[in-house]
Amino acid sequence: IPEQKVVLITGCSSGIGLRMAVMLAKDERKRYHVIATMRDLKRKDKLVQAAGDAYGKTLSLAVLDVCSDESVKQCIDGIKDRHVDVLINNAGIGLVGPIESIPIEEMKKVFETNFFGVIRMIKEVMPGMKKRRGGHIIVVSSVMGLQAVVFNEIYSASKFAMEGFCEGLAVQLIAFNVIVSMIEPGPVHTEFELKTIRDVREKEYPGADPDTINYFKNVYLPGAVNIFEAFGQKPDDIAKVRSRADFKVVESSSPRFRNLTNPMYTPIIALKYADETGTLSVHAFYHMLFNMGPLMQVCVTAMKFLSCGFLRRRTISPD
Ligand SMILES: NC(=O)c1ccc[n+]([C@@H]2O[C@H](COP(=O)([O-])OP(=O)(O)OC[C@H]3O[C@@H](n4cnc5c(N)ncnc54)[C@H](OP(=O)(O)O)[C@@H]3O)[C@@H](O)[C@H]2O)c1
Repeated sequence: IPEQKVVLITGCSSGIGLRMAVMLAKDERKRYHVIATMRDLKRKDKLVQAAGDAYGKTLSLAVLDVCSDESVKQCIDGIKDRHVDVLINNAGIGLVGPIESIPIEEMKKVFETNFFGVIRMIKEVMPGMKKRRGGHIIVVSSVMGLQAVVFNEIYSASKFAMEGFCEGLAVQLIAFNVIVSMIEPGPVHTEFELKTIRDVREKEYPGADPDTINYFKNVYLPGAVNIFEAFGQKPDDIAKVRSRADFKVVESSSPRFRNLTNPMYTPIIALKYADETGTLSVHAFYHMLFNMGPLMQVCVTAMKFLSCGFLRRRTISPD
């Protein structure tokens, strides 16, 4: 339908991408035609089931591996006039552990997916948007793209890279009426979490000294599980991206550049910008992890309680 916006989403076999695809395809006013992509169509069943009647109408499927030039080109070539109004870069992978035990090749895979994967998509779709003087590029980044987390250095770095890239691109594209937005979720209960935990169980961490392995397995991991349990959001919360009750990234006519989905993280980001030397953040995280391990659970619960009230509506301002 001509007035429908074409929305292309990467990584729709599970989690946030799947829910975004379903939510937009089921839009009551049928404003979107969603091209839900995944690298392996054998994994389509969950999406097809969740899409219900929308499948084949407002939702179609396509193969796309963000790590392959050929696959990206083939997918975009297969779209009528190569016309994409909204590109949602969601596909991504995580990586945790002591860097001593992670081969460089594995680190490169994270950058290949989370950073170059997004750029590969943008390079293919952006020229059409520029020509038509309209479009919206959305990147699912992470809170870890704004504040890195210990033992997630490589994943954080890949999301930081994305944030930096988008800061530059957003400025250039204003002149072409193309909007760039980022979504920065905190923990979300998806396969991402399960894959990470499974990876940790399977790995031996060769090359890392016993103290580092101890910090990772017995200090960091229980804390991370704790935080996931206390603050984890559902993929639907991200699909809606509600920072304010009336705010939605895809549907808004003037979406914000950054969109934190979890108000719990607003104070953490504020802490970073409150002290330009960086010392405050580095030491706060150090004490939180290494000196206050047993206290963490109490803090986490207290912060969760606090966030129900006045923090929930706060956003960061340059002041
Ligand atoms: N879950 C969290 O706590 C969290 C927090 C902040 C940000 N995020 C971000 O949210 C995004 C979605 O993650 P999720 O939580 O929904 O995790 P998920 O359930 O693991 O989904 C990730 C999706 O990306 C796909 N993918 C991976 N590599 C790909 C490739 N080379 N080409 C195409 N698709 C690929 C996966 O496909 P396969 O099924 O083929 O593997 C899967 O569909 C990621 O960018 C992640 O960094 C997640």
